[in-house]
Amino acid sequence: MKLSTQYLGLKLKNPLVVGASPFGDNTYMALELQDAGAGAIIMRSLFEEQVDAEQRALVHHVESTANSNPEGTSYFPRFEEYQLAPDQYLRQLAQLKSSLTIPVIASLNGCRPGGWTSYARRLESAGADAIELNLYQLATDPELSADEVETELLETVRNTLASVRIPVSVKISAFHTAPVHFAKELEATGVAGVVLFNRFYQPDFNIEELEVNPQLKLSDSSELLLRLRWLAILSPHVRCSLAASGGVHQSEDVVKALLAGADVVQVVSALLKHGPKYLTILLAGLRHWMDEHGYTSIDEVRGAMNLRRCPNPAAFERANYQRILQSWRI
Ligand SMILES: Cc1cc2nc3c(=O)[nH]c(=O)nc-3n(C[C@H](O)[C@H](O)[C@H](O)COP(=O)(O)O)c2cc1C
Repeated sequence: MKLSTQYLGLKLKNPLVVGASPFGDNTYMALELQDAGAGAIIMRSLFEEQVDAEQRALVHHVESTANSNPEGTSYFPRFEEYQLAPDQYLRQLAQLKSSLTIPVIASLNGCRPGGWTSYARRLESAGADAIELNLYQLATDPELSADEVETELLETVRNTLASVRIPVSVKISAFHTAPVHFAKELEATGVAGVVLFNRFYQPDFNIEELEVNPQLKLSDSSELLLRLRWLAILSPHVRCSLAASGGVHQSEDVVKALLAGADVVQVVSALLKHGPKYLTILLAGLRHWMDEHGYTSIDEVRGAMNLRRCPNPAAFERANYQRILQSWRI
């Protein structure tokens, strides 16, 4: 049985990728993940604000802009609160590259066009096999239209691409008015892949203290459904790689994402819950399902239920929404 797959032009031994997270901070942990079968690993993100601050600090010869401009940056973590400073990030990346045989993907996280995107070049020099650009962005400015927001994001992507030769993938939000169109625009810039979707961390309200509490909850399989729909709709329209990120917890989830059209799945919460060895269980389940259903390669599975090949395409669209609402009887 052939589990190997191509992702961003890289050959992966199987489609299970460790998504951007703290797992890459520790080389022993990364080796455990590789031994358990990881096809590739993505490091946590280096943030636009970190790189900007470092570049400004160099220009102004001050220790850090967090000190020189406390008001402007007070909502952001202080320099020392980030787990990996930019230079530590480069060192950790180089160490992962010298210890692992699987591809190591670095992650940049930001949305505004600017000098920070040129940091991609340093990630490339440190050995990254590819870069995942996370366009984490909340459009809170009432003056900015959807079109303006996306124009800016596309410029950020072009700036990043101009800095490197290695492949770049883009991790996008599910909240675009026309996600397929946006993905096609991304593809036209030259990105090698699109990751569906960024998972937004949603603050909760404390109604006793009248406070807003930031919180990080791990996902569950129900979050995969949003990804399945859009992978199935998008995959017939693009040639670049597609990754599912969010809600992959069982081997059935892996199968579903591949059937919808993903080239790989990214896993984080399930590994945080169960540990690196859980990858062996996901892989065994994938093999078992393929065997039972007569598939001999990932290529045969990929996209077998996308919008073009699905026996019931209406299930993805507005028609089915109406049918489902009308079917409810009291
Ligand atoms: C503790 C933690 C740290 C994360 N750090 C990053 C990060 O630095 N960059 C990034 O793009 N995503 C980051 N993510 C998001 C994951 O890569 C992934 O998109 C998200 O957790 C959904 O996948 P899951 O359902 O498998 O957890 C992080 C997630 C967790 C739980």
